[in-house]
Amino acid sequence: MMQDWFLDAKLGIFIHYGIYAVRSVSESWSFFNGTISYDAYMQQLDGFTASKLNMSDWVDLIRRSGARYAVLTAKHHDGVALWDTAVSDLSVVKRTPAGRDIIREYASALQGSGIRTGLYFSLIDWSEKLYPTIYAEGSVPGDYIHDKRFSSPVDGQERYDLWERFLEFNRSQVTELIRNYGTVDLLWFDGDWERSARQWNMGGFRDFLHRLNPRVVLNSRLQGYGDYQTPEQGIPVVAPEGPWEFCTTLNGSWGYNVHDEAYKSPAQVIRMFADCISMGGNMLLGIGPREDGTFDERVHHVLTELGGWIRTNAEAVYGTRAGVDGRHFAGGSTLSRDRRVLYLFLYDIPREAVCLKGLQVPVRTVTILESGRTVDHHCTGGASWNDIPGIVWFSVGASDAGAYVTTLKVELAEPLRLYEGTGEVIAQNA
Ligand code: GLC
Repeated sequence: MMQDWFLDAKLGIFIHYGIYAVRSVSESWSFFNGTISYDAYMQQLDGFTASKLNMSDWVDLIRRSGARYAVLTAKHHDGVALWDTAVSDLSVVKRTPAGRDIIREYASALQGSGIRTGLYFSLIDWSEKLYPTIYAEGSVPGDYIHDKRFSSPVDGQERYDLWERFLEFNRSQVTELIRNYGTVDLLWFDGDWERSARQWNMGGFRDFLHRLNPRVVLNSRLQGYGDYQTPEQGIPVVAPEGPWEFCTTLNGSWGYNVHDEAYKSPAQVIRMFADCISMGGNMLLGIGPREDGTFDERVHHVLTELGGWIRTNAEAVYGTRAGVDGRHFAGGSTLSRDRRVLYLFLYDIPREAVCLKGLQVPVRTVTILESGRTVDHHCTGGASWNDIPGIVWFSVGASDAGAYVTTLKVELAEPLRLYEGTGEVIAQNA
């Protein structure tokens, strides 16, 4: 069920940690798509050491970023579990030199830190023999994607009895994660697209999850049975319906890839984050540790800068709701829950003023969050006797611009009301 903590949290850190970091290949997809053989992919098990993994470093990094929750890949599509699962040998505990229950270390480091615990779990398991036993509903042998040997029966014979056993296998693994690792606040499922809601028995699966933990937040990669949408990599232009979270990689890869230099800059990440919260969403920022458990210096740098910005602008971030749209203000914005404080995000260096249009309530005071400076404001145009708002101008100049996004805190005399129309004729003039 959706929880307030999720709506208030705004930033999460998404960690793809797995054997794919050993050779810098894409997580699971590299063997599914044939860029590396399955056997070569699985040989990475031997190179996964977690030799420098220290969970308190991870928690420090997450905290520094300003994130209020984290999501770690307990199991990706490759089927390699990061915990000591009793129902399969395919885990980093049993099959890699690391020999550690990484989920245990992660969950216990987070719990008590104030950062909510999220786990990613792939419904797809391209290593488990029980998985490729049926076709996606509606598809037949020969259909692209569904006719891959890792996801569909090679001989074309569907075995629903085996598929039922697979669903049981998934439920056992998820039960372990929910029961044995303290409170899991969020489950982030993935891969629902390979089967239909009916094949996954999604309604039943959700009931089962709620029986284990009625308060767990579920993303919606459950064929629509979850609590929030998960647009990925491409930032929404129109806010999705209901709660949502935009997930994005910091460079171009979910997992660690030594060749991927395409790190987004702090300014870009802060801008993207401000855009998400302006539209009422969260951002889940993806980072990939090296196989030894450490992060590239650029990960530290960007997360530290992002966290610095969030701390300076905390009241414009945590607990806020979507602000006004681009027709009213040419920038991002958020609104306090009581609608009495509007936070305007200035993305560019202002010249003499920035303006807000259609405001139908008086402004009390305006300050810049970063510097604390009080900003003058005045209104031009409008016809108050006809309830036609003018334009409110906030006097800010180039010297007010911070290093990244600059926030104007606009305190209103009443809860926000906006004019949305096309303009009026004033039939009775003053
Ligand atoms: C993707 C992929 C996966 C990635 C995930 C993150 O679509 O299947 O590799 O882990 O979703 O959002």
